Amino acid sequence: MKRVALITGANRGLGLGTARALAKMGYTVIMGSRDSAKGITRTAEIEKEGLDVVFCQLDVADPESIVKAHDAILKGWGRLDALINNAGVMLDTEEAKKHPSGLFHTDRHMLIKTFEINTVGAYQLSEAFMPLMLAQGYGRIVNVSSGLGQLSEMGAGYPAYRLSKTALNAVTRIFAAQGREKNVIVNSVDPGWVKTDMGGAGAPRSLEEGIDSIVWAATLPDGSPTGLVFRDRQPVEW
Ligand SMILES: NC(=O)c1ccc[n+]([C@@H]2O[C@H](COP(=O)([O-])OP(=O)(O)OC[C@H]3O[C@@H](n4cnc5c(N)ncnc54)[C@H](OP(=O)(O)O)[C@@H]3O)[C@@H](O)[C@H]2O)c1
Repeated sequence: MKRVALITGANRGLGLGTARALAKMGYTVIMGSRDSAKGITRTAEIEKEGLDVVFCQLDVADPESIVKAHDAILKGWGRLDALINNAGVMLDTEEAKKHPSGLFHTDRHMLIKTFEINTVGAYQLSEAFMPLMLAQGYGRIVNVSSGLGQLSEMGAGYPAYRLSKTALNAVTRIFAAQGREKNVIVNSVDPGWVKTDMGGAGAPRSLEEGIDSIVWAATLPDGSPTGLVFRDRQPVEW
C-alpha cells in the first residue's frame, strides 16, 4: 500500500523540500498551495523528477478551501497517512524592525491573521482528517512550529508569531491525546533557523537540515512518542 501525505505551503521553502523528500521515500504527495499558478509550476517540476506528486489548491485560512481539499483527498485516495501543517507566516517582521520589543505596537488585525494561518489552519486541517486517520488506525500529523513559540525560552519581539506557535504546540497536545489509542501520532517540530524566504539568507541551517526532523516525524514507526515538540529529532521543553 502506497502512503499518502498532504503538505500545506508546499510551493516553496520547507514545504517544498519536505514534499520532494517524502515523494522520494515512495509517498504520494499532495502539494497544497494557496496560489494555484505557483503550486502547479512547482508540482510539475517535481513530477518531472519521476516522483508521485499532485497539486491541490489549499489556503489554510479559508475553511471552504480546507473542506474542498479534504473531499478531494477522500474521493481520490480514500486515505491520508501524513498531514504536514507547514504553511506559516511571520507578519510581524516589519514591525519588529521598527520596535524591537514588539509589544504595544502589534496590530490587532495582524495578530488575528497570523493565528488564522499558523494556528487555526493547522487545527482545522487536523480536525478534518483526524476521523479518517482514526478509522484507518494510522496517521502522522506534524505541526511545523518554532523555537520562538517555546514558553521555556520565550523572549521579546515577534509577539504574533510567537503566540501563534505556542498555541500550535497546544494544538499538537490536544490532537495527540485524541489519536494516542489509534496509532495517530501528532508532534510539533522546530526546524531551527533555516535559509528560506522566511528565514533569510543569513540563517545558519540548510533546507536539508531544516526538513530532516519534519520528514522523520512524518514517518515515525508505530509506538513512537506523541504530543511532543522535537528539534533535531530530540524532544525539547515547550
Ligand atoms: N525558515 C525558518 O527559519 C523557520 C524557523 C522556524 C519555523 N519555521 C516554520 O516553517 C514553516 C515553513 O516556513 P518557510 O521557512 O518554508 O517559509 P516560507 O519560505 O516563507 O514559506 C511559507 C509557505 O507557507 C505558505 N502560506 C502562507 N500562508 C498560507 C495560507 N494562508 N495558505 C496556504 N499556504 C500559505 C506560503 O505560500 P505563498 O507562497 O503563497 O506565500 C509558502 O508556501 C512555517 O510554518 C514557519 O513558521 C520556519
